[in-house]
Amino acid sequence: MIVLGIETSCDETSAAIVSSNKKILSNVISSQIDIHKPFGGVVPEIASRSHVQNIDEVIRISLQKANVQLEKVDAIAATAGPGLIGGLIVGLLASKSMALSINKPLIGINHLEAHALMPRLTNKIVFPYLLLLVSGGHTQILEIHGVRKYKLIGTTLDDACGECFDKVAKMLDLGFPGGPAIENAAKFGDDEAIELPRPMINHLTLDFSFSGLKTAVLGKVSDTMSEKIKNNIAASFQKSIGDILYKKIEKASNNFYKNYSYKPNIVFSGGVASNQYLKNRLLNLSELNKVNFYAPPRELCTDNGAMIAWAGIERLFENPNICEYEIAVNPRWQLDKLHL
Ligand code: KG4
Ligand code: ZN
Repeated sequence: MIVLGIETSCDETSAAIVSSNKKILSNVISSQIDIHKPFGGVVPEIASRSHVQNIDEVIRISLQKANVQLEKVDAIAATAGPGLIGGLIVGLLASKSMALSINKPLIGINHLEAHALMPRLTNKIVFPYLLLLVSGGHTQILEIHGVRKYKLIGTTLDDACGECFDKVAKMLDLGFPGGPAIENAAKFGDDEAIELPRPMINHLTLDFSFSGLKTAVLGKVSDTMSEKIKNNIAASFQKSIGDILYKKIEKASNNFYKNYSYKPNIVFSGGVASNQYLKNRLLNLSELNKVNFYAPPRELCTDNGAMIAWAGIERLFENPNICEYEIAVNPRWQLDKLHL
């Protein structure tokens, strides 16, 4: 099977061709970073227009790179939510039109489901696993028991972790997107130099809160900060995040063991999972607990069409007759509501 995947939920227009034997034949990503940079964040209206301008070309190049004609794909998978409504409409309508024109199934993909399943494209990971899904819009811990069998066990009560990286980078004037900028600055900083809180780290639940950490960083920022101080703040902030994720996953893993009598594999995904420092922290935890740890390669952590195509393939394995021409975009589509 060969599936064309289309992703347009935020600021990347992406199209990819992926085969059911786990080959990524193409994964074309047109990033809008430079367009949104002057605004310090994604501007939804500009994002929608940019998707309209780019989508045809991105799809054409993805087919060309894979050396596949549109008529030869077995299905088209497109992000139907959650995300920015304008971008979702562009991608889903383009995909519906193509699917109808070649008389092939359309599969509406939940963007979070794609992040959740993506690690199975690059690694041999069996269900169930414990997933830490950390992106610009979400911070969740889930038990992944199978395709469409997702149990949400922890989530953020305010900001998403990636959003917090972006806002802190803005305070430090490090640029957009903030995640990679903070990771880079942190390499030159002292992670013990600035005292910052770790909200909810010892809370009974697996939920997160990042807004207090963000405000605490704001309290350390001044107009006359030297580069050294910025690097120290970046490193100390990243360490706080690392400590929080470590503790929550440790707790989730212990709970899983209590509930199911075996230790879970741990999977880290979403844009923030491209952070090598955070990956190393969770790898250490996994080694201590003697469990397997997986994270997709950096370029597949952030939004891309290959993860959408792969989620389409997983959905097809589950139900070979699937066809969702009637699906509508859902900007607030929750992952744990999928199978209901
Ligand atoms: O998954 P993604 O591409 O888009 C959403 O679905 O939201 O995630 C984007 C988020 C942004 O907030 C970005 O700053 C963050 O992932 N991010 C990182 C890194 N690379 C991207 N955060 C920390 N460290 C990174 N290296
Ligand atoms: Zn994403």
